[in-house]
Amino acid sequence: MAKRKRYLIISDIHSNEEAFFAVLRTIARRRYEAILCLGDIIGYGASPNKVTTKVRKLPGLKIIRGNHDKVMANESHMANFNNSAKTAIMWTKTILNRENLEYISSLPKGPLEIEKGLIICHGSPFDEDYYLFSEFDAYQVFERRDFNICFFGHTHFPCIFVQTNSGIIFKNLRGDYHEEILKKEYRYLINPGSIGQPRDRNPQASFAEYYPETRRFVLRRIPYDIEKAAQKIIKAKLPENLANRLRLGT
Ligand SMILES: [Fe+2]
Repeated sequence: MAKRKRYLIISDIHSNEEAFFAVLRTIARRRYEAILCLGDIIGYGASPNKVTTKVRKLPGLKIIRGNHDKVMANESHMANFNNSAKTAIMWTKTILNRENLEYISSLPKGPLEIEKGLIICHGSPFDEDYYLFSEFDAYQVFERRDFNICFFGHTHFPCIFVQTNSGIIFKNLRGDYHEEILKKEYRYLINPGSIGQPRDRNPQASFAEYYPETRRFVLRRIPYDIEKAAQKIIKAKLPENLANRLRLGT
């Protein structure tokens, strides 16, 4: 029997080598139609070169930029960043080697269509800096863009918004595993969570898989060496709160 088509969905790695490589070890024996990366490769964490070099080599990669990647090309996009984020970005810019800096700076803006009805974006399909937290935010996106399924990142919060006949339903994806079959008659906005800086008080790395033929969506959380990633942040003299956020998952 032919193998089922499967996508890997990764987002918001944020220069966290330990979390990213733990995810790659977990999926090492699995084959994907494509790897969908929703942006924010760099920022916050202490391993921008290791992470970027690895991302560049991923087979079947379909990638868009995030708001942190965007400021590598133009610092004027940094206006809304908090001080820790700014400090990490300026540090990253001095640390990235030329090839990696060029790669991050030239990442394309989303949204990107993967196949008919399936798109990826960073914040939202119409604004990569848009924070999609509420049902009303989701309503705006469903109204403004035609798609069946949209994977988005940026909030670092694994969740699903479903547009049903009777309104929008929000599902907060708690726990270390979630699986569901997406209904053909509904529309979906899905966040696979963040690999490198989860913010839902579960510090484990988050990523997802999607099987388009059976419409099966799977979200996984996996442990990684958080303390090693945190110590690297401190050693690089980046703001200490960035290390604490990893420990707490905030
Ligand atoms: Fe991010």
